Amino acid sequence: MPDRLSDQARLDALYAQLSSTTPRNVGYPCNQDFDFSELFRFLRFSVNNVGDPFTGSNYRLNTHEFEREVVEEFARLTEAPKDDWWGYVTSGGTEGNMYGLYVARELFPEGICYFSEDTHYSVAKILRLQHTRNIMLKSLPNGELDYADLRETLRIHRDVPPIIFANIGSTMTGAVDDLAKIREVLDDLAIQHTYVHADAALSGMILPFVQTPQPWNFAHGADSISISGHKMLGSPLPCGVVLARKKHVDRIARSIEYVGALDTTISGSRSAIAPLFLWYRLKQLGPEGLAQVTQQCLDCADHAVRELNAHGIAAWKHENSLTVIFPKPPASLMKKWTIAPKKGIAHLITMPHVTRAVIDAFVSDFVAALAEHPKP
Ligand SMILES: Cc1ncc(COP(=O)(O)O)c(C=O)c1O
Repeated sequence: MPDRLSDQARLDALYAQLSSTTPRNVGYPCNQDFDFSELFRFLRFSVNNVGDPFTGSNYRLNTHEFEREVVEEFARLTEAPKDDWWGYVTSGGTEGNMYGLYVARELFPEGICYFSEDTHYSVAKILRLQHTRNIMLKSLPNGELDYADLRETLRIHRDVPPIIFANIGSTMTGAVDDLAKIREVLDDLAIQHTYVHADAALSGMILPFVQTPQPWNFAHGADSISISGHKMLGSPLPCGVVLARKKHVDRIARSIEYVGALDTTISGSRSAIAPLFLWYRLKQLGPEGLAQVTQQCLDCADHAVRELNAHGIAAWKHENSLTVIFPKPPASLMKKWTIAPKKGIAHLITMPHVTRAVIDAFVSDFVAALAEHPKP
């Protein structure tokens, strides 16, 4: 017999722990500032978005209509070519990257994928799973792809179609690999058959709303783009959106009789709740609200750099980025605040819940921790 009292106590303890940890979750790019209570009633249905959102399926308990609207909005934000795009709501940025690399591999089975050493750890795993040949390139000290290394490496393999995996906001430093520079290298070397995938997990929902974005989307030569939904937009379920040029997708679609759908997606059963949450956020905020939230977050990132610098901590950030980088703090700070470290650096990311007050409390704790343990 389950012990109901202790089960209840465990749930209460989990709730209390999540509630107290959330405000200090500053090191990972997951927006915590949302209210989906109006959608809770939909959790009583066994909804499922199996299949292609644009062709419908035999499973009628779905939210395909809402999913299509979400994907259409993302197509607009990524400047997808009119009538030549397709996409779906994924389980997160990783599935979107897998989808882009899958399409690329189907188009160019012999292709070599090039990615920088600052690329998210899941990409090497995806390439291994897909048996795609690949070469890791050097990064510049700021985390951007080393374009000279790209040029030199491509020159040696000019007879093999390149699949370029570009970071649009790298995990550690928020660096954006410049798609215009990448295209320039490809054009200079007169390489005709190419594929460019943009991993815009975080910055894909920042760059559409800034004055002078770096070249990053379909208008600058991307063939597919993956964006996380639970990062900047915010959702309690991990999710994302992937978009690709339709002419590429059409080459890999297969019709499946059992579900009465086109098998264009990676997963079979897919969340029907995540598209509803994304749709709700997009409607709640609208393009102006999203631009306003982005500006507030950028202001907070500037504030964090200023405050840390004012206390002698060498913090910096890229243009149009919410990722504030600094030397790895003492362990006591990492215990109190949820911070992601790597190779001597760490960062905080000014998501909407990371307000100026949160930043000031973090800086004050950082300074106190340094006083106790000088030399982080
Ligand atoms: C640059 C980058 N790409 C991909 C991912 C993976 O995205 P997700 O966690 O949504 O699967 C992340 C996650 O932090 C990331 O920073």
